[in-house]
Amino acid sequence: MSDQPAMRPLRVAVLGCGVVGSAVVRLLTETSADLAARVGRPLELVGVGVRRAGRNRTASGIDEALFTTDSHDLVTRADLVVEVIGGIEPARSLILRAMEHGASVVTANKALLAEDGPTLYAAAAQHGVDLYYEAAVAGAIPLLRPLRESLAGDSVRRVLGIVNGTTNYVLDKMDSSGAGFSEAVEQAQALGYAEADPTADVEGFDAAAKAAILASLAFHTRVRGSDVHREGITEVSATDVQSAKDMDCVVKLLAICERTTDASGLEGVSVRVHPALIPRSHPLAGVREAFNAVFVEADAAGQLMFYGRGAGGDPTASAVLGDLVAVARHRVLGGRGPGESTYADLPILPMGDCVTRYHISLDVADRPGVLAQVASAFAEHDVSIETVRQQLRPASAPGGEHGAVLVIVTHRAPDAALSATVAALSELPVVREVASVLRVEGM
Ligand code: HSE
Repeated sequence: MSDQPAMRPLRVAVLGCGVVGSAVVRLLTETSADLAARVGRPLELVGVGVRRAGRNRTASGIDEALFTTDSHDLVTRADLVVEVIGGIEPARSLILRAMEHGASVVTANKALLAEDGPTLYAAAAQHGVDLYYEAAVAGAIPLLRPLRESLAGDSVRRVLGIVNGTTNYVLDKMDSSGAGFSEAVEQAQALGYAEADPTADVEGFDAAAKAAILASLAFHTRVRGSDVHREGITEVSATDVQSAKDMDCVVKLLAICERTTDASGLEGVSVRVHPALIPRSHPLAGVREAFNAVFVEADAAGQLMFYGRGAGGDPTASAVLGDLVAVARHRVLGGRGPGESTYADLPILPMGDCVTRYHISLDVADRPGVLAQVASAFAEHDVSIETVRQQLRPASAPGGEHGAVLVIVTHRAPDAALSATVAALSELPVVREVASVLRVEGM
């Protein structure tokens, strides 16, 4: 009876055997009996696609016979393909080939989804297969399925969160130890939280790709990574972090996706990633080390918060295996999961229309009339000042001559007005330097 079609194992191929891939293979093997019971059929690992042959992979504990460098062939021999290679190519070609051959795909590839998600969705629809990618955003945290399915009857207004563990670790270290940016990155690298080349994380590319995926699902609108306003954390200094502390705030790299209207009343979507001050009493301020957390606000549900590990082998593998079980169940029971939903097709609003608040530090001359000139620059751009703090800067400080540091926090204003104000301030002869500009959220 072993040839009974209903009991034929579902063939699984895993592409990539790095930290996540090896955890997927190990858990798939260790929990195979439970997975089979949940799916209703065994899952049989038929191969692990790797880039280079001959590496010593005995430590992975994976049967050597399963490794292949011919992933193009491997994907034609599977019912379900897990892609954890990352990057655009060869991941895209392999996913498309797998779908052409009738395989459903589970991927953790945020960069590819943010750049070319519609192509993958179209191929999945054409070939009648599933495309699942819970692990692409915030690792272990169930977030995409709630947006795609649980909240399908509601209207999401806002998604706000910390979706990059590396930068959260760096900013948390700067806050707790007073370290500068470079020192905190070195600590993160020593502990394995940051890559040797941390650019994708610290410049906000990783978070921007995740924000694009979240916004697409939340607002039923295509949002690509290039639609996201992106600023990283490389300019955040120990002085900024101390200044935030003085206001009882912390600096966090936030992904903010909003359904909003511009000045003319046009409804659209605003998606941005940038460092921001948030009050220490805000729940996101308590997200320490490399953890992730995301708030979702929906019209009927109100506020929801999701928290957990956003990276790492086992946490990410948990999300991958959850998707694998879901797509495997569809094979057993028939049907498919949800495809792309872009019916709302809202315009992407420019950053200049986004209404936000700024925290600005200015190094100024300390003489009569300086504050008035600075205040005029704000007034001329219709930006209202909420608070001003002044600290004396002794002549011994860099810059020589005795001066002052002005720290100004504004009320909410369009980002275009705020950035025009900063440009005007930097032209004022009494302003020696616009030392830092950070947005303020959650107050
Ligand atoms: N590098 C990411 C982070 C994990 O630091 O959160 C993978 O998306």
